[in-house]
Amino acid sequence: MGLGGISNSDTAGKPVLTHPAVRVRTATGKFQSSLVGSAGLKRTLSSPDVPRMAQEIARLRRRLRHAHVDSIMAVVATVEARDPYTERHSAQVAIYAEHLARAAGLSVSDIEGVVIAALLHDIGKIAVPDAILLKPGPLTATEFERIKEHPVRGVEILRRVGFLERELPLVLHHHEWFDGRGYPAGLKGAGIPLGARILQAADCIDAMLSPRTYKRAMSVTETIGELIRWSGTQFDPQVARLGIAMLRSRLEEAMVIATVTAATMTCLVNALPWATPSLATPSLSTFDAFSASAASH
Ligand SMILES: [Fe+2]
Repeated sequence: MGLGGISNSDTAGKPVLTHPAVRVRTATGKFQSSLVGSAGLKRTLSSPDVPRMAQEIARLRRRLRHAHVDSIMAVVATVEARDPYTERHSAQVAIYAEHLARAAGLSVSDIEGVVIAALLHDIGKIAVPDAILLKPGPLTATEFERIKEHPVRGVEILRRVGFLERELPLVLHHHEWFDGRGYPAGLKGAGIPLGARILQAADCIDAMLSPRTYKRAMSVTETIGELIRWSGTQFDPQVARLGIAMLRSRLEEAMVIATVTAATMTCLVNALPWATPSLATPSLSTFDAFSASAASH
């Protein structure tokens, strides 16, 4: 089976193309097809044309999908611009989600689906009033119910766009908990699509590492602690493990960069005796500040 309902089986005498717009007459080495487009266009196809045509259709579908995603991203940016604290949240979630999907061994096509779903996961928040979305204090039960509608609202928006069927379940279920206490469907364990379990972790990792009106940004170490604490309840344990590995490697990278920078500064100061005294001895606090800043980006 090819793309978009087009089959390219070349069994003699049987239809080679089953797309409704295509009628096959013969199949003796070369076969004739009548491709009727919206303008009533007729063409004669030879067998080598078929895989080429399928490839071209796949390429055009991909371009169209990406064009659709680009347009929807403009809407996402509008949603995020309402709250400076969530600006670039979706892009950051997509970075974490891609890393986790790759580490989980997903196919290239599934990784692409996870990334697109991550970019669009909160689009349904466009339906949440500012008074609730931007409320600095704790939400009432009624307000929280409105927030909880955003995955369903998001799917309603994206369904109309088309070309995003694969991403819909991921957007719909990105707030499900591994133990079944999430929303909107209360799915549990492997009943939650793997891509949605990845989004759940990526979304929370970015939320924990970012400041909000009601909380400070957690450190990488604190975020690792939360992943351990909620593994098996909120997070799929396997995905949580991948998240912990990702954050630990970021922490190590930050420490290496900070160490190298401190060493470079020392070398520079030794080579340039007129340098300011503050550069001469990189302090532990310089290291900590650099490490924290590198780890939080
Ligand atoms: Fe969300």
